[in-house]
Amino acid sequence: MRWVLVLAIVACRSPSTTPDLVDEFANAYPEKATPDGKLVEYEIVAAETEVELVDGKPLRVWAYNGTVPGPTLRVRLGDTLRVKFTNKLPQETTIHWHGVRVPNGMDGVPHATQPPVQPGESFTYEFTPKDAGTFWFHPHVRSSEQVERGLYGLLIVEDKTPPPYTREVTWILDDWLLGPDGQIFGRFNTPHDLAHDGRWGNAITVNGRTDTSLTVASGERIRLRLLNASNGRIYAPDLAGLEAKVIAVDGLYARTPSTLERFELAPGNRLDLDITIKGGGRSLVVMDRFIPQRPNRLAEIDVDGAAPERTFQSPARAHVPAWSGGLAQPVMHEFKLDARQGGAFGIEWTIDGKAFAGHEHHHDPGLVLDRGKWVRLRFVNASARLHPIHLHGMFFKLLARDSVPIDEPFFRDTVLIHGRESIDIGLIPLDAGDWMMHCHILEHAEAGMMTMLAVREK
Ligand code: C2O
Ligand code: CU
Repeated sequence: MRWVLVLAIVACRSPSTTPDLVDEFANAYPEKATPDGKLVEYEIVAAETEVELVDGKPLRVWAYNGTVPGPTLRVRLGDTLRVKFTNKLPQETTIHWHGVRVPNGMDGVPHATQPPVQPGESFTYEFTPKDAGTFWFHPHVRSSEQVERGLYGLLIVEDKTPPPYTREVTWILDDWLLGPDGQIFGRFNTPHDLAHDGRWGNAITVNGRTDTSLTVASGERIRLRLLNASNGRIYAPDLAGLEAKVIAVDGLYARTPSTLERFELAPGNRLDLDITIKGGGRSLVVMDRFIPQRPNRLAEIDVDGAAPERTFQSPARAHVPAWSGGLAQPVMHEFKLDARQGGAFGIEWTIDGKAFAGHEHHHDPGLVLDRGKWVRLRFVNASARLHPIHLHGMFFKLLARDSVPIDEPFFRDTVLIHGRESIDIGLIPLDAGDWMMHCHILEHAEAGMMTMLAVREK
């Protein structure tokens, strides 16, 4: 009798509630692009060059179109972007469109989605973004060296009707490891970087400068788009003294605007802030407080003069499901993140005991997912180091950290996993193809912490 009762309880708790989770998700973001016929064309050339950066002295970098950060590409939702890319670097490379749901063949993953672009060769990327937001692009070949040398830029996909901010500001955070000669330290993937949280630099820049400042007038309402383009460093931007609301994370709008608490901006992450400027005649220093004992200055905001107040409804009212029932669902797969000795660098970073070798032409997927189906995935960090895990081709929702439920009002494409921590995420892949999943600490990725998620039609 007892048994029957227990079984009955188990039986009524276990029927799959995933259809509800799929329903909750419906129309959160579009399945298909809706091109409206407009083509926006850019040319991008990657080459070695010298720029005045960091402290204004000449710095030898690798750059897109001769500047670091590279050009900001801007399209409006519905536009088709065509980028003719030419590689003038001494190495092969690709461009990956981080966070953009592109057709798989445009994803820039060497060997998997395209052959790497050889020195002197060109490749044309073309796609119609499905989502408006703050995205970025960077190489996916030897990225711990190529991104560090200065190859990255923003891709901004504007809303069909952009909200009427008085101005839009983009801040790209990076840190540089400079040698005694003031140039980029030329050894990459060192045992030190690999055994720790990647390559952390000794000079932090915002838009390539250590003295970035912004002058705004009281009454203005600005949209600040932040990107962390560092190889390994994580920032916790502190805008104390400003009325700053988070409106979008990793491109997509949030369900509701939220106050900027401590947000850990890991490599790859973007944060869009809606800032109402109040009170004139003052200066504020924006600090990074990721390591509370060692804060870093990022930039300065000076409030000078007054402008007519700009009031409009926050654009952060996207459909982001709570998925509170998600934790009742079984974990479909648990990824184990760890390190071991061995490999080309002496240390390998592994996912489920495997170290990815980027030069190989064939990869068995680490996991196969059905398109359109809700899944709960768990990541268990068996190491003491940080791993910002990034998924290509899809967005996910953080459901729990160390089994403690979390309801962030936004999706992500990158989430920081702390040492020895486990996280659960929920997602519904909408785009079929072979998508990379990797740690965005680029040294960890280079030393093996990458795998593929294959999304198949059911
Ligand atoms: Cu910025 Cu494979 O990613
Ligand atoms: Cu990592």
